Amino acid sequence: MVRQITNGQKMLQSKAIINKNLYFSCLLFITLSLSSSEPIAYLNTLGYKPAQKEMAYGDNGMVTTQHFLATSVGEKILNKGGNAYDASIAIAFTLAVVLPRAGNIGGGGFMVMYDKDTSKAYSIDYREKAPEKSFRDMYLNEDGSFNNQNLSTFGYLSSGVPGTVAGLWEVHQKFGSLPWNDLLEDAIFYAENGFNISSYMADVLYNYNEKMSFFPETKKIFQADFPDFRNKKFLQKDLAKTLRIISLKGKDGFYKGDIAKKISEDMRANGGLITINDLKNYNPVWREPLVSSYRSNQIITMPPPSSGGVHIIQMLNILEKYNLSEFEHNSSDYINLLSEVMKYAYADRSKYLGDPDFYDVPVKKITSNQYANQIFKEINLGMSKSSSDIHPGMYLNNESHETTHFSVADIKGNIVSSTYTLNSTFGSGVVIRGTGILMNNEMDDFSAAPGIPNQFGLLGAEANEIVPMKRPLSSMTPTIVMKEDELFFTTGSPGGSRIISAVLQSILNIVDFDMNLEKATFAKRIHHQWQPDILEIELSVNEKVKSELESMGYLIEIKDPLTCIQTIMYEDGKYTGYGDFRRPDALASGNIHDR
Ligand code: GLY
Repeated sequence: MVRQITNGQKMLQSKAIINKNLYFSCLLFITLSLSSSEPIAYLNTLGYKPAQKEMAYGDNGMVTTQHFLATSVGEKILNKGGNAYDASIAIAFTLAVVLPRAGNIGGGGFMVMYDKDTSKAYSIDYREKAPEKSFRDMYLNEDGSFNNQNLSTFGYLSSGVPGTVAGLWEVHQKFGSLPWNDLLEDAIFYAENGFNISSYMADVLYNYNEKMSFFPETKKIFQADFPDFRNKKFLQKDLAKTLRIISLKGKDGFYKGDIAKKISEDMRANGGLITINDLKNYNPVWREPLVSSYRSNQIITMPPPSSGGVHIIQMLNILEKYNLSEFEHNSSDYINLLSEVMKYAYADRSKYLGDPDFYDVPVKKITSNQYANQIFKEINLGMSKSSSDIHPGMYLNNESHETTHFSVADIKGNIVSSTYTLNSTFGSGVVIRGTGILMNNEMDDFSAAPGIPNQFGLLGAEANEIVPMKRPLSSMTPTIVMKEDELFFTTGSPGGSRIISAVLQSILNIVDFDMNLEKATFAKRIHHQWQPDILEIELSVNEKVKSELESMGYLIEIKDPLTCIQTIMYEDGKYTGYGDFRRPDALASGNIHDR
């Protein structure tokens, strides 16, 4: 049943106006065999100065994030004597200020960690939760049809209860070494004093004018300089005040008291559901990470309510049965194999994956070798099997999709791989009055009804239906790959449903094709998510590969760029990092002192 729709929500505007979308269309022409100078030169012609100019090396650690200021904050914390956990907390708060389209305190996420002291892997789930007043059919009309007024993607009704502050607090309680308030200093500084808007961020703000102008509180902050954002300072005074409270009071500064009251009052006044109780009762969860092997490397990744880890393992299990290094990388045969494998995994996602606290997710079965064997036997190379012939669990009884990933490695060998999000670019478009907090639209990651695709085109079922206090299914896939008890590499990506396929391909590029980090990052990628039955490729210029794939029966769509990865590698006692050119402000850097 649809609730009363506020005026604010009547307008359909979750899509950005695309009247200046140079970057996204022009990257189409970047050639397939890339060296670092090519994308950089190309981005320069668009007026972007990519932060990453060359491979970053570090003897004592490495930080990689989607914004150079957050990267420098991470390095600062490590150089102050903090560990990878401290640096990650400081990075997350800084990204909430300098990368507001995805970095957040009004969203949620996951962190996978490898702790050197205990030689153990950990993962924490600080995903948003459905408010207590939410209900299964809240985005449906009285006749059961889907209400397509964008209520799940835009405005107050689209937000889940945020988890970021509680998650970061919990990580600090367990692993932090520097005082909590030290970790918020830089975020507060950039919110209070502002920072220069990069050319790339200027274009993102321009493109999202419609979405970010609808609510006056949001417009005041995010569209103050429209249309000319370039070289302006971006100030967030209210957010600075909120961060100061969190710095002083810890997680209670967000989930109780004045901030919690402001969130619940603004929600009540505008048709949203989040109450004081929802905030007070929010809890992050330590979960056992999924651990598997791939060609003698250990894969450590995120369990449900992320689908990412389950399906990475499922797909690697199938792909291990092929000698991938004998394939030509990104040839039509290789893309054919990857696409067929992806279809089976995404089909299963649509039916079997959800919040494990509410639904018995068959993780063991989906990640078993026996199941991989059964799918392996079904795959016929040289053709595209129609998605209508692939059903979820045949053998068992869904950028602009934002989100952001960062990784940190410290001098001791502690590793943090973290992906967190507001869901869509700038989330729900709602800034809570007087707080500067931009809220998520994570309710769209639930399945509104069977057969109704979300904004990523992903289908879902009972496993991912809306239940109060439940967490929506995610694709975020923070992953650590170990080789002989040492870090081999850690990776992750933003991009909604495309996260899983991006992480998969970064693993294959490094493990099977022996690529260094620059090549593995630059290599063009593909994506297939079973439904819709479309193969997305970045390989726009390679007409030969494209026509071979078409003759196999694929319906091809050019999506260039797909999404960006943030990876750190460790080889021969050295860390390497490379900020993906697909996000020109991304930067990896390893200027960390010896101690
Ligand atoms: N909101 C995107 C994801 O969690 O997959």
